[in-house]
Parts: sequence; C-alpha cells; structure tokens
Amino acid sequence: AEVCVIIPAAGSGTRLGEPVPKAFVDLCGRSIIERCVDNIPATLGASIVVVVPTDLVERARELLPGVVVVPGGAHRSDSVRAGIAAAGAAQILLVHDAARPLTPAHVFTAVVEAVAAGHRAVVPGVPVVDTLKQVTPGSDGLELVARTVDREELRAVQTPQGFTREALLRAHADDSGLATDDAGLAERCGIPVHVVPGDPLAMKITTPWDLRIIRDVVGEPAL
Ligand code: CTP
Ligand code: MG
Repeated sequence: AEVCVIIPAAGSGTRLGEPVPKAFVDLCGRSIIERCVDNIPATLGASIVVVVPTDLVERARELLPGVVVVPGGAHRSDSVRAGIAAAGAAQILLVHDAARPLTPAHVFTAVVEAVAAGHRAVVPGVPVVDTLKQVTPGSDGLELVARTVDREELRAVQTPQGFTREALLRAHADDSGLATDDAGLAERCGIPVHVVPGDPLAMKITTPWDLRIIRDVVGEPAL
C-alpha cells in the first residue's frame, strides 16, 4: 500500500535553547531535518511531507528537494493535521518527529509492516531501564513516593507512529489538546494501539544534553 511519512518539524525547540528552531539546528554539518529525511529508508517508497514554521517554508524547500513542505501550527497536533492535509491519498500514514533524526530503518519497516498487516495504529516502544516512582507533593517541600511502578509493563514510546489513513483521521478529528503523541489521540477514541520494537537510536533530541549525545553518535565512524 502507498505510504506517506509526515514529519512535524514546526516546533521552536524551547528546551533545546538554540538560536534557530530545533529542526534547523546543525548536526555535524547537516541540519537535523535533512538528516531525518535522508534516514527514511527508500525501500518504503514513501512520499514525504515536512511541516515547518511559516517563515522557514522556503528555506526547507531549498534544503529538501522532492519533499512536500507546508507550514505548521501552534501545537504539534495542529502541525500534524497540516501534514495530513498535504499527504494525498496514501493509505498508510507515518508520523515521525523531526527530533529523532537517527531512527534506524528496521523501526520504519516494522511499523509499516504491522499497519500493512491490518493493525490500525502502531508505535515503536523500548523497555524502561530506570526504576520509576509515582510521587505526590509532600508537606515539607520534598515530594513523597506514593508507590513504585512496575516497569516491566511500561514502554517508552518513539516515532515513527503508523496508522491507517482512517485511524489517523479519526484520531485527529477530536483533539482536545492533551495527548503528547498521535497514538494518544487514537487511544482516546478507542482505536487499539500495537507496539513493535523501537531502538535507542530513535532517541529524541529535547535538551542540550540530548544534542551533545547525538553529536557524539553522529561523529562516531562505527555508526
Ligand atoms: N512540532 C511541530 N509543531 C509544533 C510543535 C512541535 O511540528 N507546534 C514538532 C517538533 O518540531 C518536533 C516534534 O513536534 O519535531 C516533537 O516536539 P518537541 O520535541 O516538543 O519539539 P519542540 O516543540 O520544537 O520543542 P520544545 O517543546 O522544547 O519547544
Ligand atoms: Mg514541544
């Protein structure tokens, strides 16, 4: 089936704190968004839609030949909807954060194969390594541990997240602005969300520390 990868890249990167929006930050000689687009495996035969800040649409078109570039909105979900509107008639839609530029090919193929096999919503997930505690505000200024969460049943979820066209449209038809990912919107309208193996290289660049780590990874010839 025809695949379209929608890349929301219209955020400002407030937590990263660089002088340019996050997708346009340099990663060892090339921008994050260029690396992200180039990293999509050609074997998918996918069309690509990139959603950027309005004032960077022309710049993005120069950087990304062969890619459909459209302006985004105030919230991530607004940008995703702008991408959906530009995605044409593709029956399998992937939504992939620009901020995950090193996502390996096997993650893309696992997501596409699972959607093609009939799963309406599919996310990559990795086990959680830290011990996680649920906390409540304490009376003396320190937080109080309410309980330890069983991490065996938790997954840290990445992108690309894959959907049938019908499922993604339905998920975004009713967006009250609370979900932090597209699968969260799908869950809220009762669409089953399935998990395939993610990968540490699909890590998201959020903070200056993440950028430091990912620059080390890109600079490493073995990868
Ligand atoms: N995004 C978007 N449109 C928005 C907000 C976010 O397209 N209005 C995109 C970002 O560009 C990023 C992805 O959604 O590729 C994940 O968002 P996040 O990591 O939060 O990026 P930013 O919103 O740019 O960062 P911050 O929240 O620190 O400002
Ligand atoms: Mg954000």
